[in-house]
Amino acid sequence: MPTIDARTRYCAVYGHPIAHSASPAMQNAGIAAQGLNWRYLAFDVHPDSLRPAITGAAAMKFIGLNLTVPHKILAMDIVDALDQSATTWGAVNTIRFETKVNGHWLPLSQVAPAETGEIRTLGFNTDADAITRSLREDLGLEPCGAKVLLLGAGGAGRTAALKLAAEGVAELHLINRTASKAQEVAEEIKRRFPTVKVSVGYPAQTGMDLVLNATSLGLKAGDPLPVDLSLFSLKQARYAYDMIYRPAETPFLQAAKTAGCGTANGVGMLLYQGAKALEIWTGRTAPVESMRTALLSHVYGQAH
Ligand code: ATR
Repeated sequence: MPTIDARTRYCAVYGHPIAHSASPAMQNAGIAAQGLNWRYLAFDVHPDSLRPAITGAAAMKFIGLNLTVPHKILAMDIVDALDQSATTWGAVNTIRFETKVNGHWLPLSQVAPAETGEIRTLGFNTDADAITRSLREDLGLEPCGAKVLLLGAGGAGRTAALKLAAEGVAELHLINRTASKAQEVAEEIKRRFPTVKVSVGYPAQTGMDLVLNATSLGLKAGDPLPVDLSLFSLKQARYAYDMIYRPAETPFLQAAKTAGCGTANGVGMLLYQGAKALEIWTGRTAPVESMRTALLSHVYGQAH
């Protein structure tokens, strides 16, 4: 990686908290593999400071930003323009700074800092595509036509439900501790994707292609399983996916493996959302394998 000098350009992730973010390790590996004189930083930004923090990065001609909890929805009203990915999923996790050249908005990565004029922020969402890319590449599951039991209807669960519906799953069964939130997501799916059979509760019939955990259950030792095994046997499922990646194997994934399911954790989602963000900033295909190696060694240590 070139040493930092006066030409070094910057990207960053903002979150609150941020200390455990794996994004700097992953993104700096991707940046280094492309030989760019860039650095990717991480900042703890309180939601009250999100707007000035974005304005400040623009003033310093940063290339782009990632946003994580709790900024993704807030940013929808802060950025100057929204890419279709952000409007479709209702959240922004990637910002690209752009400047006008001959009447066209160009990414700042293509313009020397001294030549930069007016700057705008363009908001993207790379989370939703990362879910289905990870299901395809890490599990070998094609969502189109699949029957899915989805656990969780918070931010991550809603995005997963909508993305799976957009990909044409046949059936979507939604479970959430707070049933009204699952009901709201089901209503949104009925409105936006009327061909998908969506319902709240465990499926009556056997045979699910995928059980997907989008709750936070499993993050802490001693958490109960996100699925009620008295109402649904994991033996009925072909694949199980846990959006949690730390620990690498949650009790849910252990139970699914024992039941004979193919399994994967959420590290692939983290990787693919980051790879897409880097592509949005550079305009080049991201070096996914370099990013994967750095991410795995950051999250799981050298011995992964
Ligand atoms: P994220 O953005 O990661 O999805 P979130 O929106 O806070 O975070 O969603 C957390 C999910 O985990 C929700 O589905 C939540 O259920 P509620 O909607 O009922 O809050 C679920 N969850 C968190 N703690 C839980 C617990 N102790 N038991 C059951 N579900 C839990």
